[in-house]
Amino acid sequence: MSALILGIETSCDECSASVLLDHQGLYPLSVSTFSQIKLHQPYGGVVPEVASRNHLEQIDIVVQEALMQAKVSASDLDAIAVTNRPGLIGALLVGVTAAKAIGYVHQKPLIPVHHLEGHLMSPFLSDSKSEPSLFQRIKYPAIALLVSGGHTQIHLIHNSPRTWKPDFLKTSLLGYSLDDAAGEAFDKTAKILGFPYPGGKWMDEASQKGNAQGYKLPRASKAIGEFNFSFSGLKTATLQLVDRIKKTQSLEGQTHHIAASVQEAILDPLLSNLILAVQKYSAQSVLLVGGVAANSRLRLRLKNELSDGLGIPVFFPDLKYCTDNAAMIAAAGAVRLCQGEALPPQDYLTLNAFASSEH
Ligand code: KG4
Ligand code: ZN
Repeated sequence: MSALILGIETSCDECSASVLLDHQGLYPLSVSTFSQIKLHQPYGGVVPEVASRNHLEQIDIVVQEALMQAKVSASDLDAIAVTNRPGLIGALLVGVTAAKAIGYVHQKPLIPVHHLEGHLMSPFLSDSKSEPSLFQRIKYPAIALLVSGGHTQIHLIHNSPRTWKPDFLKTSLLGYSLDDAAGEAFDKTAKILGFPYPGGKWMDEASQKGNAQGYKLPRASKAIGEFNFSFSGLKTATLQLVDRIKKTQSLEGQTHHIAASVQEAILDPLLSNLILAVQKYSAQSVLLVGGVAANSRLRLRLKNELSDGLGIPVFFPDLKYCTDNAAMIAAAGAVRLCQGEALPPQDYLTLNAFASSEH
């Protein structure tokens, strides 16, 4: 069996479309993404109204580009998958409305996708048909660490995504951040150090020249719950540290040491909770997903501490599939299509978008 899916993602500040082939593996034939980062940078964060207006300008362009690059037309598609939750409501509505319009005109089924399920599907994407399918390589139970700008979660995955139920994200959740997400912690501390938005990749770069033991920063206590996280104290601690340093010397010479110390304070609880979960549930594989999965130190520590240290294989998506993209949404759509969860045109005209993760 094989299927051709158009994925659409507009939940935050990336306007993305992708055509994916589901045939003994999940193969993106094209990904077209317009990143709004430069538009939001002057404000130090995403401005929802700016985001939705720009999605409106870009959506037709990225969809046309994705179809063209994949050398297919809308009538060739088997289904359209679109992120309809959670995210910025105005931004989501642009993608959902575009998907409904394209779907209705071409009489194609539509699959509403939870953004986080998209991230969890990202390690299953493959650019090369010559490698054995990731569906065969990833063994269960698996533990997934989902680290993005909006979420930090640990999931226990019993079976292949082909069997995931609609309430999968709720039933698999072992732990989550009680306050800031890991990406948010990177972005907020980066702002204190004077890096542009989004700060995660600048913190990653600066840390490579810094001493991670240079400054002592707090880690949340275990009292917050076995697999939970808390990063809000780190922001205040970094602010106080920077104020203290500025009193005696210029911040500039210390930025990379502070960045490396902050990065380690974010990564330590991610690694320790992950290892705890792997051991408790005898996990056979680990999946690392979300924008923060692009972090080079996190990837290295996972290799050292899990793959080499415990012999547990770690699967992370290619860098281009870590941050928000429509290929992962098409991938989640592909598995949902197989499960018979696509909506026919008469059923999706009233389909809505939801800001919250609960839907
Ligand atoms: O998954 P994503 O694109 O958007 C959400 O769904 O939130 O994640 C974006 C987050 C931002 O907080 C960004 O700073 C972080 O991923 N990020 C990184 C790196 N690259 C992106 N954080 C640490 N190191 C990186 N190399
Ligand atoms: Zn995301």
